[in-house]
Amino acid sequence: MSNIREEINRRRTFAIISHPDAGKTTLTEKFLLYGGAINLAGSVKGRKAAKHAVSDWMEIEKERGISVTSSVMQFEYGGKCINILDTPGHQDFSEDTYRTLMAADSAVMVIDGSKGVEAQTIKLFKVCVMRHIPIFTFINKMDREANDPFDLIDEIETVLGMRTCPVNWPIGSGKSFKGVYDRQTGIISRFLQGDNGHKTEAVEAKVGDDGLDELLTPELHEKLIEDIELLDGASDEYDLDRIQSGELSPVFFGSALTNFGVETFLQHFLDMTTTPLPRKSDIGIIDPVKEDFSAFVFKIQANMNKAHRDRIAFMRICSGQFNASDEVYHVQGGRKLKLTQPQQMMAQERKHVEEAYAGDIIGVFDPGIFAIGDTICTPKKQFSYEGIPTFAPEHFARIRQVDTMKRKQFIKGIEQIALEGAVQIFQEINSGMEEIIAGVVGVLQFDVLKYRLENEYRVEIKMEQLPYEHIRWIENDDINVSALSVTTDTKRIQDLKGRPLLLFTHPWSVNTVLDRNPGLKLSEFGNA
Ligand code: G4P
Repeated sequence: MSNIREEINRRRTFAIISHPDAGKTTLTEKFLLYGGAINLAGSVKGRKAAKHAVSDWMEIEKERGISVTSSVMQFEYGGKCINILDTPGHQDFSEDTYRTLMAADSAVMVIDGSKGVEAQTIKLFKVCVMRHIPIFTFINKMDREANDPFDLIDEIETVLGMRTCPVNWPIGSGKSFKGVYDRQTGIISRFLQGDNGHKTEAVEAKVGDDGLDELLTPELHEKLIEDIELLDGASDEYDLDRIQSGELSPVFFGSALTNFGVETFLQHFLDMTTTPLPRKSDIGIIDPVKEDFSAFVFKIQANMNKAHRDRIAFMRICSGQFNASDEVYHVQGGRKLKLTQPQQMMAQERKHVEEAYAGDIIGVFDPGIFAIGDTICTPKKQFSYEGIPTFAPEHFARIRQVDTMKRKQFIKGIEQIALEGAVQIFQEINSGMEEIIAGVVGVLQFDVLKYRLENEYRVEIKMEQLPYEHIRWIENDDINVSALSVTTDTKRIQDLKGRPLLLFTHPWSVNTVLDRNPGLKLSEFGNA
């Protein structure tokens, strides 16, 4: 037991989030280098998810094995066992990203110092806040001209609505980037620019010492003195409890590409972040150490190897120890089973695992029995974890198959892709599956859907985008949906479980419909 406790307590599981191009891949790669998990910089690059174009995405998806292999990475550093969950890097968002966050205990948010907080970071950030996930901010690319650090901090606080506490502070940026000042130790790490790359040097000089004028230039030295004074007076104090409850984000400045400030960030981060957190279930809070094995499925990926039509279910272990030889209980399926081909991802390679611990992520072969949100636990004590919410799709399209002879493949493909969580599928009320309505969180998913149906299921489709942007599930049990008084821009549909929903073009129509139908209960989220 003490061994299990130690193993669990040395686990750190976090997701890395950023707007594309902020430097997430570069930072991840540097982390892995410190962990000795890869020895060649640039190895993570190979799998890098497409950044802009759909065509890039398709290329990457052809190499899906690689991209998925790298979506969860484990490495060792300083006696800790670290699991990094990569969030998809394309410029668009799928439910997958959100669900990945559900499997993490904290998040590292990478921000480009010259761009500040960008749209997609906001979306991801909201999910972290909803779950009270601690967020650690790394402001990257300080070797390039960056925005004023006070403006960057201010932006995080106002746009994301979270307080911050800078752990270190940059001295200049771009060509005049001199390094960072550590607010806890007072030590300055100098960034030395040279023809043969960049070097870091720690200077144990006190701010205000004469020698610093020479090292930093008198102007930057003076600015640093002023900045520190301002920070000490105005910024929030370092408070580990507030950090761990997700109220306060520690902020670090650095440059991933030149490997400046990355290791100190990693060290601080590992000290501040939590061990695997307890999670809510239908029998109360499940303690990661005291309870036996349990896990939940947060991601399902099909056709990772086209030749075999395989499906892998990714699960986050939430408590205890997983032993490949033990029988487990699949709560939603109501039966005992042995997990087949359990595997873990170590940097680029997949390897078979015999044992794993709370905090770890394992992928298991799925013969088609698992669904996202399912709980797996020991047969001795059965319970289920809180469902993973389904995020409200914001784009809708009507989808029709071109060749009606391929109805079977069409339904199979659609159902499979929906099960993976990339799209949500709806129907016209009282209609069949010849024509469906697909809802997605980001529009790129439509292209992905079309591409996958054509390539994996050989079904051609016609897609017509619809003007609706807002979705509400009807929560009332007994309701005559067609009798509801709705606005002209409202559409009545149902999900695959037959639950009625309303789609709206304008956000204000939601309130109008609520006003017109007293007692009507609408919800933005359906449960998975
Ligand atoms: P992402 O995963 O968040 O999308 O970003 P990624 O790490 O791929 O970085 C995006 C671009 O920014 C890359 O350049 C990368 O080299 C560069 N970059 C990352 N960190 C830093 C940094 O600290 N300083 C500077 N100056 N650049 C940084 P690219 O030209 O798109 O790719 P590549 O040609 O380097 O492969």
